[in-house]
Amino acid sequence: MQTMYNYAVLTMPAAGRLRGRNVLTMVDLSPDELASLLGTAHILKAAGREQQRFLQGKSLAMLFEKPSLRTRVSFEIGMTQLGGHAVIAHGQDFLLGKRETPEDVARVLSRYADAIVVRTHEHEPLQRFAAASTVPVINGLSAAAHPCQAIADMLTIKERFGTLSGLRLAYVGDGRNNMAYSLAEAAAMSGMSVTFASPITHRPPDAFLARVVELGKPFNVTARAFTSPLRAVRDVDVVYTDVWTSMGDEAYSERNSAALRPYQVNEELMAAAAPHALFMHCLPAHRGEEVTAGVIDGPHSVVFDQAENRMHAQKALLLALMTDLRGLGDQL
Ligand code: CP
Ligand code: NVA
Repeated sequence: MQTMYNYAVLTMPAAGRLRGRNVLTMVDLSPDELASLLGTAHILKAAGREQQRFLQGKSLAMLFEKPSLRTRVSFEIGMTQLGGHAVIAHGQDFLLGKRETPEDVARVLSRYADAIVVRTHEHEPLQRFAAASTVPVINGLSAAAHPCQAIADMLTIKERFGTLSGLRLAYVGDGRNNMAYSLAEAAAMSGMSVTFASPITHRPPDAFLARVVELGKPFNVTARAFTSPLRAVRDVDVVYTDVWTSMGDEAYSERNSAALRPYQVNEELMAAAAPHALFMHCLPAHRGEEVTAGVIDGPHSVVFDQAENRMHAQKALLLALMTDLRGLGDQL
């Protein structure tokens, strides 16, 4: 891995500004706060698995209304490595908005925990939850956003290219899901231009594309949607895809498969990207559907680096939300 950061990143003004804040979508972070998180994540990754004491005595509560492997396990082990502790409650234990209101759940957990990760179906109860919480709330995936994955993905791309600004990323498939939204926002904030390859039914709304352009304005970022996958991936540095049907949308899976089948990322499509292009997927993946086994298990794929980087990026986020990061450089 290239040396991308030094400890000065921990004393940058953006580093200390996140304490006490909520991160529900990428735009809850400024571009310099995102860059600072990537710097902290890189330093933590280099420090390895050795247990630290930065979050000694701190507890993270995790509420999951949907299944999770990466998010749940990486947050839990990340907290342990930082000297803290994580506990999980599943959907049937709290039923946000059904057994009790999101506000009441947030007020109760704020009395126990120092930060809270929530994975919900709809985004709106999460917003209500965060507004009532007195400790930082992190979106562990909602229908509208998956910021933890997008932050880890920026770290993965930066490790490979040494930079983010000026790169081009193509997102192929369902351009209206949580991953598409958070990824495009994170990319634009980092100076990457984005193309989407989606059928009309799954095309990101024009208002969203305009917002992506606005986010990337300091870098002259472009954001365009094509129906032709070959057109969208031509010469790009990164090809990204996600499942055709997101968790909770199973009722639409037949319809989605029919519409998205021409958008499979296969060897022919990867050949249209730049020769050095990365293949990325947030996982879980379905070989033979949105991606062929040859691509996801092939030389362009960095999907397990992405999965690993979830932990490093989230450790950086936990530290930034719960501490002022001062003194970290002396101890790592
Ligand atoms: N990528 C991701 O969030 O994986 P999980 O659903 O397993 O947490
Ligand atoms: N779009 C997918 C992402 C899974 C990590 C989903 O919401 O199911």
